[in-house]
Amino acid sequence: MLVLFLPILANAQSYRNVSLGSSSLIANNENSTWLSPSGDFAFGFRQMVPGGYLLAIWFNKIPERTIVWSANRDNLAEQGSRIQLLADGRFVLDDPRGQLIWAVASSGVAYGAMLDTGNFVLIDNTSAVLWQSFDHPTDSILPAQMLSNQGRLVSSFSETNYSSGRFIFWMQGDGNLVLYNRKFPMDDNIGAYFATNTVGSGFKVVFNQSGYITLTAENETVLYFLSSNGASTAQYYQRLVLEYDGVLRHYVYPKSGDLTVGRPMSWSVLDFLPGNICLSMPINTAWGACGFNSICSLGIDRRPTCSCPTGYSLIDQSDRMSGCKPDFGSQSCDQESKDTSLFTFVDMPNTNFPGGEYMSYTQVQEDWCRQDCLDDCLCAFAIYGGSNCLKKKYPLSNGRLDSSIGQKALIKIRKNNATIATPSTSSKKRNRSTVIITGSVLLGSSVFVNILLLIALLLFGFRLRSKVVQKHSTPPGGTHLRSFTFKELQDATNGFKEELGNGACSNVYKGTLEYENDRLIAVKKLKKMANDSAKELKAEVNSISRTNHKNLVQLLGYCDEGENKLLVYEYMSNGSVGDFLFNNSRPNLYQRLQIAFSTARGLCYLHEECSTQIIHCDIKPQNVLLDESLVAKISDFGLAKLLRDGQTRTTTGIRGTRGYVAPEWFRNMPITVKVDVYSFGILLLELICCRRNVDTSVVNENEEILSDWAYDCYKYGTLHLLVSNDEEASNDIKRVKKFVMVAIWCIQEDPSLRPNMKRVLHMLEGSVEVPHPPYPESFMD
Ligand SMILES: *[C@@H]1O[C@H](CO)[C@@H](O)[C@H](O)[C@H]1NC(C)=O
Ligand SMILES: *[C@@H]1O[C@H](CO)[C@@H](O)[C@H](O)[C@H]1NC(C)=O
Ligand SMILES: *[C@@H]1O[C@H](CO)[C@@H](O)[C@H](O)[C@H]1NC(C)=O
Ligand SMILES: *[C@@H]1O[C@H](CO)[C@@H](O)[C@H](O)[C@H]1NC(C)=O
Repeated sequence: MLVLFLPILANAQSYRNVSLGSSSLIANNENSTWLSPSGDFAFGFRQMVPGGYLLAIWFNKIPERTIVWSANRDNLAEQGSRIQLLADGRFVLDDPRGQLIWAVASSGVAYGAMLDTGNFVLIDNTSAVLWQSFDHPTDSILPAQMLSNQGRLVSSFSETNYSSGRFIFWMQGDGNLVLYNRKFPMDDNIGAYFATNTVGSGFKVVFNQSGYITLTAENETVLYFLSSNGASTAQYYQRLVLEYDGVLRHYVYPKSGDLTVGRPMSWSVLDFLPGNICLSMPINTAWGACGFNSICSLGIDRRPTCSCPTGYSLIDQSDRMSGCKPDFGSQSCDQESKDTSLFTFVDMPNTNFPGGEYMSYTQVQEDWCRQDCLDDCLCAFAIYGGSNCLKKKYPLSNGRLDSSIGQKALIKIRKNNATIATPSTSSKKRNRSTVIITGSVLLGSSVFVNILLLIALLLFGFRLRSKVVQKHSTPPGGTHLRSFTFKELQDATNGFKEELGNGACSNVYKGTLEYENDRLIAVKKLKKMANDSAKELKAEVNSISRTNHKNLVQLLGYCDEGENKLLVYEYMSNGSVGDFLFNNSRPNLYQRLQIAFSTARGLCYLHEECSTQIIHCDIKPQNVLLDESLVAKISDFGLAKLLRDGQTRTTTGIRGTRGYVAPEWFRNMPITVKVDVYSFGILLLELICCRRNVDTSVVNENEEILSDWAYDCYKYGTLHLLVSNDEEASNDIKRVKKFVMVAIWCIQEDPSLRPNMKRVLHMLEGSVEVPHPPYPESFMD
């Protein structure tokens, strides 16, 4: 670490006092700074975009060099701009032509200084403070800093764009402390989503040396704890920041690795407000926590994410709050060209856009609601719940997704819209070796994602020049992921002691994050990665980290240190469906069907709902895990892609596991999402029958391959044989039949005959009829 910092330190001017008339910094390289005596903080220019500099204060001893204050966030300075403390005591930032960008007008200044608290001060000859950066916070406050009468923090616009954003934290003059949504780009308050309700008594926000952040009355009594955990300022760097997503977070960063064994050498959140911003937004805040037509939900890391409904996409890919636009032409209201037949609905359970309905009906059925919205050319979204049907004004605002929400959103989209890029199935000329490449459909998009990232990096001022910074910066997009050091994971897993599972590409170990209330984690250690895979790990981590669905195992973080490449997942306490299903205590039919539903939902999401389509390629009981309440979650998605270079080509070229892989892997055929549908079909049969697809221990030879036997039983009407030793299933043979029929559809040899996962889900749920499936022909060679 130390070695890495030397270049920065060596070039820095270790001024302690900034003297009158002679001191200046020029915006052209980042090595010229004024440091605080300890070197903890630096004052100087930071390049945000090519040719655009921010005059800022930052933590200077950590690789992230986190900015805590800036002078010109809404007016970046061009190259060659200069900050000077003039002889007359004015502190001015001029562009190269001498035009004023920013200034502090003060007289009687004796000197300026960057203090170890992170405060930049202008001092007179009696040592009195004339001006200090602590009195003019941007989006952060530091220990020893206060926010009093009318003091406010304005969030950044985005993670990388530090200009004034959409949220404000305000110590109101009347004593109330609020977080509010700004009528961007104006300043007006369009709705507080948090308030201490201390009108008449609140006085100031205090961030004390023990790391407590409180709202106090004038007589210093504590009225409200904004952060109540506390952390020593001697051991931790700390900051309270109103982040671009509207959440106020108290972050800590250990000053030394020795002090706190196992704690990550990175910023971690000690406390935050509000608890769930998605649900806190008042109805009148227009865009809510996300943009128009956008849906806010809380991820497993408790951070809000914004996502677009199916068939919609972000207006500006680089701005999570830009709102969502439909990817299809809206319905015509012309009577002659009435095109209701071209539209259909996507259901989003637990989703609501509160307020703003132009029509509401009570005591109606869901089907009635659908039909009514379909027939109404002005209706784009309807909300159904508790036999009420609400047709919403467009655009919709304040969308939210949470398991506490009873309603479902019915989103009207054009049928067969081409919003989801399905891999080409038309091109015929493929040879065996390209199957692998085709298999990594995402490889293409992964390069594409990389390019996008690169552009984003350049645009938003992530500095690529220095390897140090690049290595430690958060991967763009994967903002909620933590970067772990190998040492941390080694400690967390007790030296990779308890193995949870292993495979060709990785071993998985159980671990504990002590500093996070002993949270359990599963650490996946990847084997033999190809040389250039580091970049890809990032890109993949990035695409996986964007996925957020309750039926997918959540990725929490990663480690990327040379040879050591690890992924950190949430720990699933009930193991895999494989263990659950094939050992002696048979789960009941209801539990098994729930697993089928959950897995189908997770796959549906991977295929159709997340921003980059993901083909899992290895759906099998071992890769579907169960959490403490037996909710099934798909694991390992995207991992196949991670390893495509080193692993898949060497062996058979086939990814996936025998017995579950679709026939096209063995043919000269393109690999599409339908390979997952196939594997799901096999899994579904296994769930129904509680046995493995291939079981050579059976007495009767024609029962060895479950998929063949199931078709025979279906064809000859002997389905009871499949579940002969399962009373529950035998008593519900109609349902068993339906599920077997769905499974047979899924395992059709011709991929185009297999339904997509959405349709599979609808068939399982019973919202569409299951037609009689054809014979899936023999394929295994
Ligand atoms: C800074 O300037 C003040 C006033 O001139 C002086 O008292 C103090 O010692 C100086 N500090 C340093 C570190 O040079
Ligand atoms: C401080 O500055 C003021 C003018 O700004 C001057 O009158 C005074 O004599 C100075 N005091 C000292 C101690 O230098
Ligand atoms: C940051 O966001 C603001 C507000 O949208 C925009 O005007 C500005 O151009 C952005 N700055 C950069 C450097 O992208
Ligand atoms: C900080 O505030 C907390 C809560 O009010 C208090 O218990 C603690 O003693 C304070 N610490 C310091 C150093 O003032």
